[in-house]
Amino acid sequence: MNTTEIDHGTPARDSATRVTLTIDGQSVTVPAGTSLMRAASEAGITIPKLCATDSLEPFGSCRLCLCEIDGRRGYPSSCTTPAEAGMNVRTQSPKLAQIRRGVMELYISDHPLDCLTCAANGDCELQTQAGVVGLRHVRYGWDGANHLAAAKDESNPYFTYDASKCIVCNRCVRACEETQGTFALTISGRGFGSRVSAGMDEPFLESECVSCGACVAACPTATLQEKTVIEMGLPEHSVVTTCAYCGVGCGFKAEMQGNRVVRMTPWKDGRANEGHACVKGRFAWGYATHKDRVTKPMIRAKITDPWREVSWDEAIAYAASEFRRLQAEHGRGAVGGITSSRCTNEEAYLVQKLVRAAFGNNNVDTCARVCHSPTGYGLGQTFGTSAGTQTFKSVAHADVVLVIGANPSDAHPVFASRMKRRLRQGAKLIVIDPRRIDLVASPHVKAEYHLQLRPGTNVAVLDALAHVIVTEGLVDEAFVAERCDPRSFGQWRDFVARPDNSPEALEAVSGVPAAAVRGAARLYATRGLNAAIYYGLGVTEHAQGSTAVMAIANLAMATGNVGREGVGVNPLRGQNNVQGSCDMGSFPHELPGYRHISDSTVRAEFDAAWGVTLDPEPGLRIPNMFDAALGGSFKGLYVQGEDIVQSDPNTQHVNAALEALECLVVQDIFLNETAKFAHVFLPGSSFLEKDGTFTNAERRISRVRRVMPPLAGLADWEVTVRLSNALGYPMDYAHPEAVMAEIAALTPSFAGVSYEKIERLGSVQWPCHAGTEEAGTSVMHVGGFVRGKGRFVITAYQPSDERANRRFPLLLTTGRVLSQYNVGAQTRRTANTAWHEEDRLELHPADAEERGVVDGDWVGITSRAGETVLRARVSERVAPGVVYTTFHFPESGANVITTDSSDWATNCPEYKVTAVQVNKVSQPSRWQQDYQRFNEAQLRALAERESPVAAK
Ligand code: SF4
Ligand code: SF4
Ligand code: SF4
Ligand code: FES
Repeated sequence: MNTTEIDHGTPARDSATRVTLTIDGQSVTVPAGTSLMRAASEAGITIPKLCATDSLEPFGSCRLCLCEIDGRRGYPSSCTTPAEAGMNVRTQSPKLAQIRRGVMELYISDHPLDCLTCAANGDCELQTQAGVVGLRHVRYGWDGANHLAAAKDESNPYFTYDASKCIVCNRCVRACEETQGTFALTISGRGFGSRVSAGMDEPFLESECVSCGACVAACPTATLQEKTVIEMGLPEHSVVTTCAYCGVGCGFKAEMQGNRVVRMTPWKDGRANEGHACVKGRFAWGYATHKDRVTKPMIRAKITDPWREVSWDEAIAYAASEFRRLQAEHGRGAVGGITSSRCTNEEAYLVQKLVRAAFGNNNVDTCARVCHSPTGYGLGQTFGTSAGTQTFKSVAHADVVLVIGANPSDAHPVFASRMKRRLRQGAKLIVIDPRRIDLVASPHVKAEYHLQLRPGTNVAVLDALAHVIVTEGLVDEAFVAERCDPRSFGQWRDFVARPDNSPEALEAVSGVPAAAVRGAARLYATRGLNAAIYYGLGVTEHAQGSTAVMAIANLAMATGNVGREGVGVNPLRGQNNVQGSCDMGSFPHELPGYRHISDSTVRAEFDAAWGVTLDPEPGLRIPNMFDAALGGSFKGLYVQGEDIVQSDPNTQHVNAALEALECLVVQDIFLNETAKFAHVFLPGSSFLEKDGTFTNAERRISRVRRVMPPLAGLADWEVTVRLSNALGYPMDYAHPEAVMAEIAALTPSFAGVSYEKIERLGSVQWPCHAGTEEAGTSVMHVGGFVRGKGRFVITAYQPSDERANRRFPLLLTTGRVLSQYNVGAQTRRTANTAWHEEDRLELHPADAEERGVVDGDWVGITSRAGETVLRARVSERVAPGVVYTTFHFPESGANVITTDSSDWATNCPEYKVTAVQVNKVSQPSRWQQDYQRFNEAQLRALAERESPVAAK
């Protein structure tokens, strides 16, 4: 894949009107509004520039890009002058050359001439342009007033700001505003004294900068420079790949020196991110070569035994013989597997295939069980398929954006930047969240409505919104009549119109003023406006998670907000490949492409292709596996790239279940919390070490490309293939491309997916079968729902069992923070800890005062399930009665207190509502003390592992 990126200087314009002009004697036709600079560049004519770059609106400050236009006086800057029909433009002339040299001379006279030792030597636009304009002399000398001794700001762990090299081009300031939307930078001072400053002239780390790197990418000099480039030098080649953190699925160029990553730069042609990134994908990749990586297979008979390093062959043979022994002794269903939402599609496919074909049962599940399984159920019931309806880009067409139970600026930051851009352009925002997330009020963005509901009352609020829409005549009758099932609509309309679903009746339940609900409903349902819903785990991780997803789908259908740009229902999927792992048949009841295992026609296709007879009965879900393990009927588990001990609820229960297993095989890059209970450890490979594909929240399938050899010698997919062969079920693939070919052959919605096509088009969106565009489907349900007629479902509100009472008077809800990622296994091993080094408990000042707690105190949090201790953060972000924490650090034990209350339809745990009491304490909880002892013993077992052979 060609990784060369051309900078056309100013952004492309989208206009049906085209204008033809002449540049340097060449006839050029471009969309109206295109700058002269871009028009020239697209025709292969390069105009010198410094302050312009095509990711940002033109600014016109450097005066290097001047041109001559017939009939115009002076020398207009080509970056700020739009092309007009009939213009005759010259970009080169002796006069222009003279002016440009003069401009450049001024820049260089205040610039340190340390090019040979500068980190950007060879990658500096100032250096390049000095050469382009032919600067040979600097007449002013360097002894006048200058900035050469300006101090460096090295506070950010990933980049430096060396003010002595700044040419005050403003690109960084504009990048922070336009691309990222944080507005952290300003140019302080005037004229000669002007300089870039972060926040209120603070060090970057202490300012509101979120370290997205947009300013670093935009800086034409070494003023803002990645520290890895300063340390290692410039990369010599690059490979395009996909971020392995969140479901946005940003495209990156891994810029390399040999097998070593020098930096990750966001890929301009990445469809999901278009050249933007967040701190995780951009900078937090050092975990991939962290010293904690375990790169040799290990086995042990009991978890109290020391580990023994063995060869791949021995580890795999041992695991296979144990699984076969357990099946012989306890039955075919005594073993199962868990696929990973961090691994590739091909890897998830192979693990579920191994379970179904080699184990001979359907005991396969995935971590989507604990996040978006209600999305699968809810959207399947209403629309007919389990996926977001839009592309991220579609938000640019939304007039109203409703965000419920999601915190995009922390969890899906690059999409949040896109959304904020649209909001700054005037789209209206409704936020439904128990917590005052950043989006409610951030620079130049303010929600019209923040419905700060009590945790656990989403369905009540969604029903109240529907009540207003139905009773105030806001239904899009034409859409409903044409596109939806009339019977289910009638039943739903009668249900939501009942007085007990009115905002007034439900105010006491949700705590949201009825007037605000009415206002939000009217805004969302405004006729003629595009309204889009984005939701996250704050919707799904509830006892009524599936109900809430269906209530959201009902709202969109009733208002006609499905099936075109700017509208839709969009789950913001958490992990990089959680969409893909679900698509690949990771659920116990579904084969790839969401086809039920009980469907004999579908099963027959797989039977024929795989040469087996599939079990028609759905297998065990993860919680059922734990229960069966404790009950003695489930004995062996193969877990690929998933830390169930830290991520699943009710940690004590999970630990007890894993302790009951006779063979736990964990495949991971680190000895994670789950691996501490394992009998076989198979070293995993990071996304940098393998080929494959990830599918993001837009259903977009993008390539993951190997940029370095696997540290352990094998990529994850190769390990699964070997394990299957050792189990006696042959698998033979030369490359993940062959796995994708098999997926495409067996899965109608993937029929048109191939590596060749992804290579050619950059990415493909499923459904991608006969009748769709070559690149697949960008907007779903255009003209008709996947299931035919859209189906309304009655969504009666049921209070959660997790209600506050005298013993547990507060409601705990959980979430993520920008700099850390889920269980933190990766981000905790990077400098991202500079922003977040521990999980804290947020509580409202009134609740804090009642308990005598001040900011920073240790507080015990007790629920029905257990107790843990964290430090307090007193904050008005949460309402009285609500407390909040993140869950990125194992020692916090956030899941020690979450209960096994779960979604009625899918068993997705109710992480977002736990009734708790909070008290000031002085020591860790009993669980934390036990954890510390266990953890130390396990780390000792790792450190003292026997290494009898040079493992191969
Ligand atoms: S890193 Fe991002 S947030 Fe920070 S100053 Fe640069 S553009 Fe702004
Ligand atoms: S820091 Fe870089 S991008 Fe910002 S004004 Fe200075 S030279 Fe331009
Ligand atoms: S937004 Fe998500 S996919 Fe993009 S760089 Fe950040 S973590 Fe990676
Ligand atoms: S590039 Fe046009 S004025 Fe700077």
